[in-house]
Amino acid sequence: MRATIDLDGLGLDGGGHLLVDRALGGLRPGDELTVTGRHPALRLHLAAWCRERGHGFRDGADDSAGDGGPLVVTKGAATGQRWRDARRAGAANGPPEASADPRWGLAARGALVEAGGPPIGAHWSERDHVWADIAPKLYAAAAASQWDPATAVDWSAPAALPAEVEAAVVQIMTYLVENEQAALIIPARLLSQVHPHYREVMQLLASQAADEARHVEVFTRRGMLTGGPLGTSSAGGRASLQSLLSEPDFTTASFLLSVLGEGTFVDLLRFLHRHAPDPVTADVTRLALRDEARHVAFGVAHTAHTARADPSYLGVLRQAVERRHAALLDTAGLNTEVFDALVLLAAGSWEPAAIEAGWQAVHQLQGQMDEGRRRRLAYIGFPDDEAAELSALHTRNFM
Ligand SMILES: [Fe+2]
Ligand SMILES: [Fe+2]
Repeated sequence: MRATIDLDGLGLDGGGHLLVDRALGGLRPGDELTVTGRHPALRLHLAAWCRERGHGFRDGADDSAGDGGPLVVTKGAATGQRWRDARRAGAANGPPEASADPRWGLAARGALVEAGGPPIGAHWSERDHVWADIAPKLYAAAAASQWDPATAVDWSAPAALPAEVEAAVVQIMTYLVENEQAALIIPARLLSQVHPHYREVMQLLASQAADEARHVEVFTRRGMLTGGPLGTSSAGGRASLQSLLSEPDFTTASFLLSVLGEGTFVDLLRFLHRHAPDPVTADVTRLALRDEARHVAFGVAHTAHTARADPSYLGVLRQAVERRHAALLDTAGLNTEVFDALVLLAAGSWEPAAIEAGWQAVHQLQGQMDEGRRRRLAYIGFPDDEAAELSALHTRNFM
C-alpha cells in the first residue's frame, strides 16, 4: 500500500512529524509513505527522524527526477512492537480491578501501559484491603464540602467568657489539636502506600488529611483567641494517640482511627457544639463534626467491606483492640484536666447544682459514645456481646 502526505512549508522541527506519524498510523509495516513539502531541511530531518523511529527512508530524488523529488518512508515494525506487550490498567469508567498490578506503576486507571518502567512499591494492591463502594461518592461529597477557615468562622464574634470557662475551652482545644494531628498523620501515611489504581480511596484519604489540617488550624486558633497560653498535654493521652500511628495494617488502622476513634469523637464534637459557651467554639466544632462524619462513614464502610470479604478479619480487628488496650493499661487515658473542662463547660457555672448537672452530662456523653461504638461494631459484623466487650476496651482518651 502506498500513501502520500504533503507537508507544504511545514518542517519536522515545527510539528511536521505529527502529520507524518498520523499518515503512517494507517499503514502496515513495510508499506510506503511518500512525503512532499517545501521546507529546506525536510530531507535531512525526515531521514534522522526515520532512523530514530525505526522506519526506512529513501530519497526519491536519487532514482528519478533529481533534487526536490519525493521522499519515501517505509513503515518499520518498531511502533507495533513497542505496544505489543502493553496491557490496559483496568477500565477507566468501571470499578477498579480486584488486584492492581504493581507494574502498572503510576499509570492512570484504564491507560494502555507500555511494558517495562518501574513497578510501584505500594503495600496495598488488593481491592478488598482498601476499598469501600461508597468511596467515590464520599470523595465527591468531601470535594464539595471544603470550607475556608478564614471565612467559615466569624473570628470577630465576642468571646468574653469568665476566665475559668475560657481556660476550660482552651484546655479542650489543646487536647483536640493533638488528636487532630494524629488524625492527619494516619490517612497521609496510609494514602502513600495505596496502589494508585484505587484512586478514589487515595483522593478520599487526601481530602481527609486536608480536613484534619483545617481542624488543627481552627482549634489552635480558637485556643489562642484570647491570647493566653495553650493548656496541658498529658503523657497518657499522647501514648494513646501514638499507639494509633504505629498500626501497620490499612484496615486495622482505619478501624482503630475512624470507626472507634473518630466515631467517638463525633459524639464529643456534638457535645462541645451543644455546650459551646461562645460562637467561635460553636462554629469550629460544628465544621469539624461535619467532616468527621465522612471519615467515620468511610472507616465503617471499608471495615465492613473487608470483614464481609473475609469474616476471619473480625478476629484480627478484635486482637488489635485487645492489644491496644493492654498496651495502654498502665497509662492514665484521658487527661483529667480535659475531663474537668468538659464538666465545667456543660455546667456553665460553679454552682454545685450546675456542676452536678455537668458531671452527669459528661457521663451521659460517655454512654452515648459507648452506644455509638457498639452500633458501628455490630454493623461491621461483630455479635452484640462482642461489640459491647470491644467498646468497653476502647481507650479512655476517646480517640
Ligand atoms: Fe478532625
Ligand atoms: Fe477525622
